[in-house]
Amino acid sequence: MGLPQSGIFALGTSAHSIVELQLRNPEESGSGLAAIARFALELNTTNGVNLVVGIRPSLFMSHTAIPVMAEDFSTRIEGPDGFSMPATQADLWLWFAAASQDRAFDCTRKALSLLREAAKTVRATTGWTYQGNRDLTGFIDGTENPPAAQASEVALIDEPARLAGSSIALVQRWRHDLDAFSSLSTAEQEKVFGRTKPDSVEFDEAQMSADAHVARTSLKVGNEALPIYRRSVPYGDAADNGLVFIAFTHDQARVALMLASMSGETDGVRDALTRFSTPESGAYYFVPSFDLLEELAAGY
Ligand code: HEM
Repeated sequence: MGLPQSGIFALGTSAHSIVELQLRNPEESGSGLAAIARFALELNTTNGVNLVVGIRPSLFMSHTAIPVMAEDFSTRIEGPDGFSMPATQADLWLWFAAASQDRAFDCTRKALSLLREAAKTVRATTGWTYQGNRDLTGFIDGTENPPAAQASEVALIDEPARLAGSSIALVQRWRHDLDAFSSLSTAEQEKVFGRTKPDSVEFDEAQMSADAHVARTSLKVGNEALPIYRRSVPYGDAADNGLVFIAFTHDQARVALMLASMSGETDGVRDALTRFSTPESGAYYFVPSFDLLEELAAGY
């Protein structure tokens, strides 16, 4: 197994900085990819900053000629009532996670200055943890995540050997309408998610509405659940805020299916959550193993 980027699994960090960049000249992607790969590999643990680097799947493939079994987020997903999820695929994704915002900030600035000639920032977001492990709606986020011992199996590609230890990330920034959500009673809010608010107990079948978030996203093939490894981060300030949804998987199809199900593309039933939160971006990134980053750093 190739060594995965350690930031995928690093826990306990409360300060986040998430950046998406576009290469100035994708035809000459080599120098930008090598620069960010070197930066990621040389990041010393004494900095106290975790970094995950993701690359547009088609860019990684055209640069290395290694097929990665992942596609770009190139098509807007359309649901009923005019709802849609935008496709805003960029070339590079950097996720910095640290114990304090100054560390995340300084490290992000350093990476951006290294990349200045090769790439321009298209989206930069400051994230932070809310009430430990809650989304800004007040609901615990991550209850159904796989336990730590199984997270790597869920998140990481196993085969072919060349890709082992790599992953595929979905990154989607959702803007909340917290005024609208908080105008609901707690019982109504719980119906939106299909879980209780204080302690995240899942509704039983009789209580669960077809449009509850949990009902739209807990996918099964036969009796087999299709888990993903979510590492989402709340972002923003008191006036403008939401969730940067981040999920890692070895199987892009199941994440795509979750998006289709949430948007109502599959059966016309739209996730109740989409009435209170709106996706403003959407991209997939191939997250190379450290081994593949070493090859990129050496100027693949
Ligand atoms: C505004 C955006 C979102 C918010 C606030 C949100 C929040 C939540 C919350 C509170 C839960 C219940 C507790 C838990 O198991 O974590 C949950 C479950 C889940 N969410 Fe989301 N989520 C968002 C978007 C998404 C997206 C875009 C996907 C998939 C592409 C997704 C996939 C899942 C899955 C797989 C579960 C677990 C379902 C189960 O098996 O019970 N979520 N989410």
